[in-house]
Amino acid sequence: NQKKLNNLDAKEKQLESFTIDHTGKRMTTNQGLRVSNDDDSLRAGRRGPTIMEDFHFREKMTHFDHERIPERVVHARGSGAHGYFQVYEPMHELTEAGFLQDPSKKTPVFVRFSTVLGSKGSPDTARDVRGFATKFYTEEGIFDLVGNNIPIFFIQDAMKFPDVIHAGKPEPNREIPQAATAHDTFWDFVVNNTETAHMVLWVLSDRGIPRSFRMMEGFGVHTFRFVNKQGKARFVKFHWKPILGVHSLVWEEAQQLAGKDPDYHRRDLWNAIDAEHFPEYELGVQILEEEDEFAFDFDILDPTKFWPEEDIPVRKIGKLTLDRNVDNFFAETEQVAFHVANVVPGIDFTNDPLLQGRLFSYLDTQLIRLGGPNFHEIPINRSVSAVVNNQRDGYHRMTINRGVTSYSVNSLQNNDPKPSSEKEGGYVHYAEKVDGRKIRERSPSFNDHYSQATFFWNSMSEVEKQHIINAFHFEVGNVENKQIRQRVVEVFNNVDSELATLIAAGIGVDPPMAPGGTGVKASSPAVSQMTTKKSPK
Ligand code: HEM
Repeated sequence: NQKKLNNLDAKEKQLESFTIDHTGKRMTTNQGLRVSNDDDSLRAGRRGPTIMEDFHFREKMTHFDHERIPERVVHARGSGAHGYFQVYEPMHELTEAGFLQDPSKKTPVFVRFSTVLGSKGSPDTARDVRGFATKFYTEEGIFDLVGNNIPIFFIQDAMKFPDVIHAGKPEPNREIPQAATAHDTFWDFVVNNTETAHMVLWVLSDRGIPRSFRMMEGFGVHTFRFVNKQGKARFVKFHWKPILGVHSLVWEEAQQLAGKDPDYHRRDLWNAIDAEHFPEYELGVQILEEEDEFAFDFDILDPTKFWPEEDIPVRKIGKLTLDRNVDNFFAETEQVAFHVANVVPGIDFTNDPLLQGRLFSYLDTQLIRLGGPNFHEIPINRSVSAVVNNQRDGYHRMTINRGVTSYSVNSLQNNDPKPSSEKEGGYVHYAEKVDGRKIRERSPSFNDHYSQATFFWNSMSEVEKQHIINAFHFEVGNVENKQIRQRVVEVFNNVDSELATLIAAGIGVDPPMAPGGTGVKASSPAVSQMTTKKSPK
């Protein structure tokens, strides 16, 4: 066993130290007392009442009664796996992040894939966005890349997140329907918040029903920053590109699977890893120089926009391999806690107003979901680098901190933890210059809700277009309120008038009133060939 331990990477070793092998062991209570009978409660006489004294019964039942924790408020349905990441070449020109320097080094990772709106027991193949969250256990601390399988998002400002989720979850009175996008509240939100139009098209495309987690792209969505050792920063977008390519189900398959095998994606992931067909994804980055921040006719801080890959190519910089299934779903997949704010030196944020709100939300929700401030001590969430600070106590504290002081600076104890300078690996935020009036107002540079939606629509093949129309017919066709159905047609008329006319034909409403199609028409057939760069002045 010692030999096996030596061969495990740092995270596996750490997890191994928390696992228990029950084989051949005698049963005990939680206090370590050997149990003589686990089948019968303690009774006053063979046919008499159970008595209070039965500590074994009470402990067993109480633990069972408390087995569940709240499901995630979004992304409740998920599946996880362990693996490792290796960079292809040193990235020091772009970022000082330690795990992106040495091609021979394997950084342990844990990935959780998810749907967004369904509850924990909902079917895998529902039409929805998919989460693709990766935890890198680096030597400099944890880096979480909490992404989705679609490169953009529904909304521009975190303030709207509770609204878009309330609109997409089952209706509050009757808790139906479960189908994420097939009901009045979702489409009511869409027609009243047209910034959603671009994302809605992606979700109604084949991207909304992936064939397998192994055949799905991932995107960090927001614009982040890479910062190198010299302090030079550049904008970066993160991508995951599956080695198996991107493949989708067709809607009829997705519907049948939801009934016949609601665990379809979970089973596929598990079986592939079990059979050693390890899922692989390349990490890609799009890099933009700071001086090009305003070179495009969209705002790079607007999360409803992607960066056209023709203008800013995706550079593949490393590979993720998922090679190990979990030992225990609850301990690992359910208790894992990702947070966009978990970064390492060399990776920083931007002022994307959706990202800024996420930086608050994840820790906040995990404080209640995982029962207090010590969930970083749960084995799956533990950093492999040492955690040293003056934070103390709280529910479920595992660490036993020694010594008389828990404050800094102190003169009583000479081993109190000291901060590190930037040179010594201390995280220093990028010193972006910020200057402005305190206002509650959307930037006018976020006003264009349709141009990229039109590009996306025009990049689809005829078959892909037909799938989108069919999806509109199914999803919007289920909307009971005719006015909302009509307004869907008017909103998507801004994307493309033919699209709007085709939608109208299948949902019992009139074709669009005006000619429409105010979105810019793209001549090129593929998203990757789209150009929206401003022409040089
Ligand atoms: C999960 C909030 C936007 C990807 C969650 C959770 C919350 C949340 C509260 C549950 C976390 C937990 O219980 O551990 C928000 C807010 C957003 C936002 C407030 C916008 C303001 C996004 C975006 C993406 C994303 C744009 C993709 C880039 C994910 C993923 C998970 C998640 C993948 C599941 C993580 C897991 O598997 O545990 N989000 N989210 N979210 N979010 Fe977001």
